Amino acid sequence: MDLTELWEIAEQERQSAKPTQIKCCVAAGCVSANSQLVKQRLDAAVKTSGLENQVQVCGVGCLGLCSQAPLVRVDTLNPREKHSILYQQVTPDKTTAIIAALAGKETTQLPQADLTHPFFTKQLPIVLENTGKIDPERIQAYIAHDGYRALGHVLREMTPTQVVDAIARSGLRGRGGAGYPTGLKWATVAKARGDTPKGSRKYVICNADEGDPGAFMDRSVLESDPHRVIEGMIIAAYAVGANHGYIYIRAEYPLATQRLQIAIDQAQQLGLLGSRIFDSPFDFRIDIRVGAGAYVCGEETALMASIEGKRGVPHPRPPYPAEKGLWGFPTLINNVETFANVPWIIRHGADAFASIGTEKSKGTKVFSLTGNVRNLGLIEVPMGTTLRQIVEEMGGGVAQGTAKAIQTGGASGGCIPASAFDTPVDYESLNQLGSMMGSGGMIVMDETINMVEIAKFFMEFCMDESCGKCIPCRVGTVQLYQLLTKIRAGEASMADLELLEELSDMVKHTSLCGLGQSAPNPVFSTLRYFRDEYLALIDQGNKK
Ligand SMILES: Cc1cc2nc3c(=O)[nH]c(=O)nc-3n(C[C@H](O)[C@H](O)[C@H](O)COP(=O)(O)O)c2cc1C
Ligand code: SF4
Repeated sequence: MDLTELWEIAEQERQSAKPTQIKCCVAAGCVSANSQLVKQRLDAAVKTSGLENQVQVCGVGCLGLCSQAPLVRVDTLNPREKHSILYQQVTPDKTTAIIAALAGKETTQLPQADLTHPFFTKQLPIVLENTGKIDPERIQAYIAHDGYRALGHVLREMTPTQVVDAIARSGLRGRGGAGYPTGLKWATVAKARGDTPKGSRKYVICNADEGDPGAFMDRSVLESDPHRVIEGMIIAAYAVGANHGYIYIRAEYPLATQRLQIAIDQAQQLGLLGSRIFDSPFDFRIDIRVGAGAYVCGEETALMASIEGKRGVPHPRPPYPAEKGLWGFPTLINNVETFANVPWIIRHGADAFASIGTEKSKGTKVFSLTGNVRNLGLIEVPMGTTLRQIVEEMGGGVAQGTAKAIQTGGASGGCIPASAFDTPVDYESLNQLGSMMGSGGMIVMDETINMVEIAKFFMEFCMDESCGKCIPCRVGTVQLYQLLTKIRAGEASMADLELLEELSDMVKHTSLCGLGQSAPNPVFSTLRYFRDEYLALIDQGNKK
């Protein structure tokens, strides 16, 4: 494969596009609402209506507004009548009406989403630029949307050091939770020596474990645009000097795993993975490793132990994976969304990426917006967008009453009260509020939600997911859960509340890994903003 062949594939794909495209979401949310049958029926209806030459039906990734699944988007590409319609809640029996409308026949009006709503207009797709637009199972579709162009450029025009510098200048920070500067991590792995008698050995790992409650961003990216993540990984491998990569994905994501395998096979067939990529001296291959869904296996040291075939438990750092990772060799480990940003940064330039976002948090962030909000789904917004814009404008507010809080950052995060909704979403601001960016789950809560119940829910999650290696987390999370249960039941005293605070502090400071260290965060944030709810329950207990 050389660049000319890549252009040819892209051109052929563009030429073969029909004037009207019907895009049926075949990502997990819509598939679970029967979208595969919807797609079959649309295909059949196009044939029986004799529209095959004008209309193309294709399966695409997430169309965003998951609460209205199954979703079908109709794009008319003809410049004179160019327009788009997003049909929602499309059941198989409604497909003939969609095709009849295309054929200009009078039909019953089908429910449509308002594409001028802030849910759509306030988004800035970088990671999701192809999501809902291309068929994730066809590499030609990715190539026609500039896919693998960044890789071709990097391998022909840039040295590994220039690639690392570009990522550093872009300001990209890891999207897996902690926000560590990606360029700095790449530079550390690039400098590390992975000496063996047969030459240097280093690894690149994509962390697709995504275990946070309410989070489905990485799954959607992999189901919708798997080549983008693969391209990001190949570029990273070239930059740090690795020839072998792993994608670690949980077994609960069978569709994403299947699409990744299809994408890897297709890339190999075209010579974009394997030996002498783009006719350069660079070789790289990727293998998938499926994890059993333990939350702790998302922690990088536990993840690597799991790939090595050992029990997935964390070990202390240093040494960090960048110096001593998989099988003791220098290893770059990044999140799905981190890799998915890379091709865009190379194509558009580090400065273009750095011009988006806030001073210290550059680019965009993908969030899964869930909970008691009207518009649920997948969104990508520039860093610095306020929580209010996300919840009230894009999410359309809560269905009943008013919003009370938003939970961000998954099990390690915290609950932010509605009074702080004017805060811009970036790493530092969320930390200051006692929460964190995390991987991108956002759960909106209305006034009916009891915040002690929420703290109890997240503590139960951490208690169940604790690997048990260290005592503060293994025993502490159980005791914290028991205390929260007692408070919630209205059977606790002020001494129990003091013990809750003391124990939370101890678990935070003495646990071995991030799971235990952050397990008390939901307790801290609910105590900080909703202490009255704890006190009311204790007061209730005193009156019994
Ligand atoms: C308990 C626990 C679970 C984690 N789960 C994930 C995960 O599912 N995905 C992820 O990318 N990072 C997860 N992380 C963070 C990883 O350890 C690691 O920092 C991250 O993959 C680095 O990628 P980044 O620099 O691109 O963010 C988890 C950390 C902890 C402590
Ligand atoms: S903090 Fe919890 S999850 Fe982490 S090593 Fe200790 S017991 Fe295991």
